[in-house]
Amino acid sequence: MQKFIVRGGRRLSGELELQGCKNSSLPILAASLLCGGECVLMNCPKLTDVFAALRILGCTGCKCTFSDNTAAVDSKDITRNEIPEELMREMRSSIIFMGAMLGRCGECTVSVPGGCELGPRPIDMHISALRRMGADIREDGGKIICRRMGEKLHGAKISLAFPSVGATENIILCAVTADGETVINNAAREPEICDLCGFLRKCGADISGDGESRIVIKGVNALHGCEYRIMPDRIAGATYLSMTAAAGGEIILRNACVPDLEPFLSVLEQTGCSIYTSSRDRVYLRSGSRLKAVRDRIRTMPHPGFPTDAQAVLMAALLCADGTSVFEENIFDCRYRHTDAFIKMGADIQVVGKIAVVKGVRSLHGAAVDATDLRGGAAMISAALSAEGMTEIGRICHIDRGYEKIEETVRLLGGDMQRVVKD
Ligand code: EPU
Repeated sequence: MQKFIVRGGRRLSGELELQGCKNSSLPILAASLLCGGECVLMNCPKLTDVFAALRILGCTGCKCTFSDNTAAVDSKDITRNEIPEELMREMRSSIIFMGAMLGRCGECTVSVPGGCELGPRPIDMHISALRRMGADIREDGGKIICRRMGEKLHGAKISLAFPSVGATENIILCAVTADGETVINNAAREPEICDLCGFLRKCGADISGDGESRIVIKGVNALHGCEYRIMPDRIAGATYLSMTAAAGGEIILRNACVPDLEPFLSVLEQTGCSIYTSSRDRVYLRSGSRLKAVRDRIRTMPHPGFPTDAQAVLMAALLCADGTSVFEENIFDCRYRHTDAFIKMGADIQVVGKIAVVKGVRSLHGAAVDATDLRGGAAMISAALSAEGMTEIGRICHIDRGYEKIEETVRLLGGDMQRVVKD
């Protein structure tokens, strides 16, 4: 079992290059199934979720390699269209393979990804959209069995009840080689959707409107392989900025996709940190005296609203702020589980339903805590860096799903953090 040991109280200072984005690498890896040739993905982050996606691809018959942040996937020969349950369980977003496998093979068997650390994660919108495109989908003993009904899947006009990221991705994956035109209304507008579409266009797909709420996909006969560079990870960027804001100090983020970070930066700025963006890809932050609470309620919303994935890390920065900050979590039912750890470290937080009220305290102290989920775990590191004394963080497998060498990055910034292996 591995743990992180963090000793707080040091200011952070330094410059770092952001890792590649987890939440676009995963659908892009799934999309490589559709290409029937070799895809070379650069700036692919070295994460356990990425390796889980590569294992899924391997089990379908793809030849995969990974070295120096470059993943190569050759999907010429697909030998299997069933993903075993143990692989589906390794990664919650494995459901994204459903649209890609349907598009490539016309049939597939996957399993229900199950409830997770953020609460139940239904896939009703994914299923109803794929049905509209001509797929017959049945559930049998936890397995989801999908088969196209006609010769080909066909385009459809789909209006999502909520701009779900995963459902938008599954529809796009299924539509790129379907017959005719697919229109997605109320599509997710997250930058990761644009990255997926950018990759697919490079492989020969005809997609327009990504980044807006109406996406149009015209089906093409076949896609081909390509070389593609994965976008930077805006949530990892938000995490390292929040850590520096919490611990005090200064940081320069390179390769930082400034426009994608803006919904987060405009809230972080209200804490009194000095933030400068020198070009489209550089952010400088300086955090001096005690942060100020954020006056306006922080409401998580689909992009371009404040990202749910940055809620926990911003909260960590506000635990010792001057005044009271109020969060409203609107995306996931169960995304305040990190608050118990913060309270154990001395924070003053009241959670009622989707609201969390954070009253800034003068200081935090170290404690033994467990990561509850990926972003909650990263937020615990942030709180620990600003606390007095030592914090021991368990269940760090959650954190390794999304942050590349996080302890090395924190040390590069001058923080005191070690990974230890315990029996
Ligand atoms: N939802 C439904 N039915 C559906 C699909 C979604 O009710 O068929 C609900 C979900 O239960 C949730 C909400 O809609 O309450 C939003 O879910 P969405 O489908 O947008 O999220 P996702 O695709 O499961 C991705 C990211 C998450 C990120 C969300 C929101 C990946 C791999 N995951 O999840 O990232 O929080 O979008 O932006 O892209 C993370 O990186 O830590 C993470 C959880």
